[in-house]
Amino acid sequence: MSEKRKTKEYTEVSEAQIAVHWKEEEYFRPAKKFIEQANARDPDIRKRFAIENFPDCFREYADLLTWSEPYKKVLDTGKPPFWKWFVGGKLNACYNCVDRHLGQYRNKAAFIFVAEPEEEPPLALTYQELYVRVSEMAALLRDFCGLKAGDRVTLHLPMTPELPITMLACARLGVIHSQVFAGFSGQACGARIQDSGSHVLISMDAYWRAGKLLDHKVNADIAVQTAEEMNQHVDKVLIWQRFAGKYSSPTPMVQGRDFFVNDVLKKYRDQRVEPVPMDAEAPLFLMYTSGSTGKPKGCQHRTGGYLAYVAGTSKYIQDIHPTDTYWCMADIGWITGHSYIVYGPLAIAATSVMYEGVPTHPDAGRPWRIAERLDVNIFHTSPTAIRALRRAGPEEPSKYHYHFKHMTTVGEPIEPEAWRWYYNEVGKREAVIVDTWWQTENGGFLCSTLPALDPMKPGSAGPPVPGIYPVIYDEDGKEVTAGSGQAGNMCIRNPWPGIMQTIWGDPERFVNGYYKRYCKNPNSKDWRDWPYMAGDGAMQSADGYFRILGRIDDVINVAGHRLGTKEIENACLTVADVAEAAVVPVTDEIKGRMPEIYVALKPGHEGTPDTINRIIKANEEIIGRFARPKHVYVVPDMPKTRSGKIMRRVLASISNRRDVGDVTTLANPAVVEDIRKMVQGKDAVVSGEAVPEDIAKFGQND
Ligand code: WTA
Repeated sequence: MSEKRKTKEYTEVSEAQIAVHWKEEEYFRPAKKFIEQANARDPDIRKRFAIENFPDCFREYADLLTWSEPYKKVLDTGKPPFWKWFVGGKLNACYNCVDRHLGQYRNKAAFIFVAEPEEEPPLALTYQELYVRVSEMAALLRDFCGLKAGDRVTLHLPMTPELPITMLACARLGVIHSQVFAGFSGQACGARIQDSGSHVLISMDAYWRAGKLLDHKVNADIAVQTAEEMNQHVDKVLIWQRFAGKYSSPTPMVQGRDFFVNDVLKKYRDQRVEPVPMDAEAPLFLMYTSGSTGKPKGCQHRTGGYLAYVAGTSKYIQDIHPTDTYWCMADIGWITGHSYIVYGPLAIAATSVMYEGVPTHPDAGRPWRIAERLDVNIFHTSPTAIRALRRAGPEEPSKYHYHFKHMTTVGEPIEPEAWRWYYNEVGKREAVIVDTWWQTENGGFLCSTLPALDPMKPGSAGPPVPGIYPVIYDEDGKEVTAGSGQAGNMCIRNPWPGIMQTIWGDPERFVNGYYKRYCKNPNSKDWRDWPYMAGDGAMQSADGYFRILGRIDDVINVAGHRLGTKEIENACLTVADVAEAAVVPVTDEIKGRMPEIYVALKPGHEGTPDTINRIIKANEEIIGRFARPKHVYVVPDMPKTRSGKIMRRVLASISNRRDVGDVTTLANPAVVEDIRKMVQGKDAVVSGEAVPEDIAKFGQND
């Protein structure tokens, strides 16, 4: 397909669907009571962060931190797009999140941990207690494991206080942590151990999820074995106990390799470890995320710029004050948890709630009971959780006496209808809502209303946050103007302190994946020539608000979690009978999108329920339970072009009950109707609803 034709098709689809799908919504205004107390209530903030003041405007965020050596230069653009922030400065992230608050807040809770079983009372961890526990853990990492600044260590920890304690202990030493979401399988964890070159794995024996105490130690064994098979040797496996002093897993410990953290820690009781001053550009952590290829990318985040950015946005966008009780319901295993449960809130001395379990277990009143009991006043969650809670208990919030001043939604586009339930029922029409758009790569928020200053508009992430200058480009690199009703590729014109430094071990992929497409001059050292391409489709209304329409690449956003279609296809191909696999996104009422799998089997094999089970199991083992497909279809053949390419676009149309369009040019057009019947039944079921952007665009480049 020629470049020209691609553009035309894309634009036509977008305009039509947007007209139907996204009508302009009315504005909602923040309550007076909220405005009066807000951290950002002076409209001057936009001026301070105006493009003329870039990059110096970000000094304001750096000033929120305590530096052991002041930085000399705000931004160094010498080697685009590998920007350097706060050059020459030194600081320690753990010191900034813990030690420096001891004077004023020693006895205030840094974290309140809520376990899944309701009979386990919430546990408040004061700043003093956090300081002691982090310091002891740092002593263990340094003296027992021999870890030092710059080493990587993989964490595969569930949502208990031991997770932030371990992260902060690493940060105290300058050790780069790579926390893998506990829902990832052992194999997925092993692949990340290998990529990061970790010699130490830190995990936990078990944790509660939806009423079951899951064996997690078993994943550590698989992870180590997977890493070894990939030639990465793990010397030590540290196992925290979910219930200290008691082993809650049936999986045996491996002698000489596995150690109970609680036991070893006894040696380091009350040891104080000084925080190591780190270069502002020293990597703080890696966070793996999915991209277009099967290999996950390790987003490498820097110490100074990242911490400054999450501190600033926690203050102004989350509106956290030290007196608030702030609860972000995300898992620390994802970027949201790193930035907005741990580093951002603690940098500004918040009390941050963390909890174990799933929002709707044992019932949909659970989050509101927690909010009531802890008197939470800032609440942060995803559209998937909002949709699930609304479906399971639309009336539940009104039964509990809590009052939120502020609420966040993050991770996926939110439908205006779900937004209104969040506003009316969860927020009781008192709370302001921020719809925050950003990505693992970005460190912190990129688009969101300033809660006291901008009106809210359901379904729109809103204007960019201070200091961020987005632009939407079309396929030819032309700017799409606000209010044109046209969609395009969401980009950011300027660097910002929270952007990742690079992809761990793969700088080329960093440049090619995010900057190559719209780079104006590869020899230029001027940041203006290097817009960042986010990988999302978006449009901008006449009022300047951005609507994010979803991924434009081969990434499926399942319940706010990114899954690469290639990762899933690769997992399917490990099943011996599978000859070909194609994965497409399908809309889902709760999770937003889910993967749907099409496989063609090798000659002589027949699709049985057992085949399908093995395919599902392969995905769970190689990626994790959250990668479970909505359906698996065994098809006689894949729809293919004459050159043999699988037409995933056609399969996506079938899965989403859309018209498949003209398929006469395919090598095997007849199979399309066979597959359609298999998926939709005998009669054609074509939905009249507008096609979401990511699905309309899916597979167009195949
Ligand atoms: C999507 C999560 C619409 C988007 C912080 C992005 C959103 C991907 C929003 C990043 C939002 C995130 N509205 N879509 N408010 N926030 N997204 O890396 O497609 O897990 O590219 O980071 O989630 O997901 P990630």
